Amino acid sequence: MNKIKIMSVFGTRPEAIKMAPLVKKLYNDDIFESKVLVTGQHRQMLDSVLEIFNIKPDYDLNIMKHGQTIQDITSKVIYGTCEIIQNKFRPDLLLVHGDTSTSFSAALGAFYEKVTVGHIEAGLRTGNIYSPYPEEMNRKLIGSIATYHFAPTKNNKYNLLREYISEKNIITTGNTVIDALHSVIKDDFDFSKEDFKNIDFSKKIILLTCHRRENWGKPMEDIFFALNKIAEENNDIQIVYPVHMNPAIVKLANEKFTASNVALIKPLEYEEFANLMNKSYFIMTDSGGLQEEAPSLGKPVLVLRTETERPEAVKAGTVKVVGVDKDDIYKEANILLKDEKSYKQMANAVNPYGDGKACDRIIEFIENIYR
Ligand code: UD1
Ligand code: UDP
Repeated sequence: MNKIKIMSVFGTRPEAIKMAPLVKKLYNDDIFESKVLVTGQHRQMLDSVLEIFNIKPDYDLNIMKHGQTIQDITSKVIYGTCEIIQNKFRPDLLLVHGDTSTSFSAALGAFYEKVTVGHIEAGLRTGNIYSPYPEEMNRKLIGSIATYHFAPTKNNKYNLLREYISEKNIITTGNTVIDALHSVIKDDFDFSKEDFKNIDFSKKIILLTCHRRENWGKPMEDIFFALNKIAEENNDIQIVYPVHMNPAIVKLANEKFTASNVALIKPLEYEEFANLMNKSYFIMTDSGGLQEEAPSLGKPVLVLRTETERPEAVKAGTVKVVGVDKDDIYKEANILLKDEKSYKQMANAVNPYGDGKACDRIIEFIENIYR
């Protein structure tokens, strides 16, 4: 019997983390001929994930350049994807993930080549095309291009149905990030490694990540100002910020954080980061993935954005959207630090994002369609 030809495309850290468990399962299943195309939208942050999960891409567009624009990424990925499909490997199904410019552009390239697209992590919506920017538009456009939609939650499925996507082509799977997280969390994780040397683990760890394009400029300045003030006023805490590699963010973080109990460190490998999350007191972030991972570890999350496409964790009570106003951020962080009852209410381990078997469901669906 002919094998089902799949090409998985990704290019940034979060896509790689969330696609890794799926790629590994596809690779180990005999009924598939599975290839991986990475765009290299991220370089070091992507390679680090490939290494941890031992994934060797078949094709690498290697597009990253410093300070790249969305149009740089988009045009290079469309050309690159079409070229690979024309000359190297024409899959029966091309899989993309989430909402990055890599994902949208690869989906569009596949469409130009009349290759069927499957969308992993489909149906997340804020309803505002400028927030997150450009991700909300990317995922809506991928939703229009894709034939098959793998929605993490029922709410995501409902969003797709509202856009007149045929119900038979949507499957609710859970989020593959839970599959990935389960594979790296260790109770006896060793925190004595070099990467953690500037962190005082005797203090309460507040883990920070912040990188989103719509937060560049004043919102990010205000976020950093509020957090620096909190650090200055609370000597019993240790803020840890693995700074995203975007040079503009590195520069701003170095300027704004002056308190001695703020550790600005390089991005951590996934295993280290996930276990640091598990060790932290609470998390402040504008990231998407962290809003899915932290609830299952029982860690409260304050979201440094004005909205979220992940209302499930907010409903469950572990995630709170606090916005980007410095006074609000200062106030909400202080509540979690000072009010034990509020902290305990948020620190429940809940997991609206699945049972860690999302990849199995995706694979079963693909098998049923193509066999
Ligand atoms: C991208 C995605 C965003 C996702 C984020 C995850 C788009 C438009 N944005 O945003 O949806 O949430 O990744 O982190 O698709 N850099 C390096 N090395 C790396 C990675 C980045 O040096 O390994 C630097 C480069 O200077 C690069 C800059 O960071 O130009 C920004 O990277 P880019 O992929 O354009 O945007 P992100 O903000 O990372
Ligand atoms: N992450 C990581 N190292 C870090 C920071 C984050 O491995 O130093 C992981 C994190 O656990 C999550 C993903 O990267 O799975 C989130 O990526 P990012 O914040 O870059 O993107 P987003 O989720 O906002 O798209």
